[in-house]
Amino acid sequence: MNIQILLADKIKQAMLAVGAPEDCDALVKQSAKVQFGDYQANGIMAAAKKMGLNPRQLAENVIQHLTLDDYIEKVEIAGPGFINLFLKAQWLATQNELALQHEKLNLTLATQIQNVVIDYSAPNVAKEMHVGHLRSTIIGDASVRVLEFLGHHVIRANHVGDWGTQFGMLIAYLEKMQNENANDMALADLEAFYRAAKQHYDDDAIFAEKARGYVVKLQGGDEYCRTMWRKLVDITMSQNIATYKRLNVTLSLEDTMGESIYNAMLPQIVADLKAKGIAVESDGALVVFLDEYKNKEGEPMGVIIQKRDGGYLYATTDIASVKYRYEQLHADRILYYTDSRQHQHLEQVWLIAHKANYIPQSLQLEHHMFGMMLGKDGKPFKTRSGDTVKLNDLLDEATERATNLIKAKNPSLSAQELADVVDAVAIGAVKYADLSKNRSTDYVFDWDNMLSFEGNTAPYLQYAYTRVLSVFRKAELSIDQALSGHITIEHEKERALALRLCQFDETITTVASDGLPHVLCNYLYDIATLFSSFYEHCPILSAENEPQKLSRLKLAALTARTLQTGLDMLGIKTVEKM
Ligand code: ARG
Repeated sequence: MNIQILLADKIKQAMLAVGAPEDCDALVKQSAKVQFGDYQANGIMAAAKKMGLNPRQLAENVIQHLTLDDYIEKVEIAGPGFINLFLKAQWLATQNELALQHEKLNLTLATQIQNVVIDYSAPNVAKEMHVGHLRSTIIGDASVRVLEFLGHHVIRANHVGDWGTQFGMLIAYLEKMQNENANDMALADLEAFYRAAKQHYDDDAIFAEKARGYVVKLQGGDEYCRTMWRKLVDITMSQNIATYKRLNVTLSLEDTMGESIYNAMLPQIVADLKAKGIAVESDGALVVFLDEYKNKEGEPMGVIIQKRDGGYLYATTDIASVKYRYEQLHADRILYYTDSRQHQHLEQVWLIAHKANYIPQSLQLEHHMFGMMLGKDGKPFKTRSGDTVKLNDLLDEATERATNLIKAKNPSLSAQELADVVDAVAIGAVKYADLSKNRSTDYVFDWDNMLSFEGNTAPYLQYAYTRVLSVFRKAELSIDQALSGHITIEHEKERALALRLCQFDETITTVASDGLPHVLCNYLYDIATLFSSFYEHCPILSAENEPQKLSRLKLAALTARTLQTGLDMLGIKTVEKM
């Protein structure tokens, strides 16, 4: 049950009944303070202005037309014309019961199922994933999980950088290593492999000549070059898949839709853009000039789609990929998870695709961008020697730190339990640190913060989950066995928890529409905190009587399921004890 929508509809009906314009909006929000009720309608002032009425008078009229029913306890007018809404505790309890009975916690599932393409992770071949790909991978995967949970048809598009002129030097270098029987070793460290290839390219004229020849051959479909290229792609992807597994990310090999698959479409697209007069020749290259973007001189900005030497660009491939996703994958919505520096690139690509009529206006295109990952010093996150941090090294360090932490906290865990807890905590902490920040900003990577058992962190939430479970362990009950009796809300801490549990639905709706997982993180943190103070004030196993005990057990059971479902949507594992 989405309470926010329920109340917004109700208030809007009342507003219309007293003559507010058709497009008025009740602007119902969760109240920031208890004294303002559970929800607030903030839309009266704007409507009153349009109607030329005193806002408080309009608020009075609206309230007159509100039918109080089974869920609204009382309404109040506050300030210049806010309407404060108080819900009935027993109705909240009923909603909690319904959620508890339901496999998917009674969340509002999609009624209009969409084909959603999610473009995320997208590392580059023969390069190791760096921290920017980490952000895209983690945040993108959370969106995948939420949209799939709601019933949408999600297509994971791993837009891997597996094409381009760099493959000439990579193939030439792979050949050299094979001739020296050193290819296995060289490929084990892709980053070093890439660097060495580049070094040869820059220093050795004969090597560079050969490399350039291989680029042309590869593009022409030459068998030998194709095989060498395939080798590089396969090795990179098998390393990436291992990393995805380690990260508990749902991407598999089948989700790879690299730049190369669009290669065959490019000549036709370029010819078509030229024929439509959208692309014009300029200095031997083919360029689309966009009036919507001006360069420093105030002239329309040019997006090159084919270089003078015939080569295509990143933008050309992205025009092809959006066309492909619409035509072949029947996308209704495409979400791109890449850093903010690619924003203009994507907007220009979409604009060109619209101008060429490759995609309709109805296709939802969204760039879910994010800032950079910074070190504690506020500078881009690097190793001490100034190199980019390798993902696997980062995860190794997380594992080591988590091991020390968990061992100290609970020495009685068995070896297997310890391994499971460490895995959940280490990976969970890294992921949650990223997910819990508003993704559009840069974020500071700080080991101590992310691994802390206090504050808005994965370990805190995972620990909160085990604490709820421990109640059931002590009572020798399983969560399902707690489902007898009824929820009755007496204490204010019970009420606060019950209300927030009811708001899981509107939280997920927001995450699904805005692609902002930090909203879910904040929500789960609230649940854990509210449970903690409920637990402190409202004894569960030593409740005053059996009905009260059963009621509280039910609230605890719903808390556990909400935490677990929410963390799972974020791709974060839970354990039974830690
Ligand atoms: N491979 C690119 C990079 O490493 C990201 C690709 C993002 N997706 C896209 N359709 N352009 O920066």
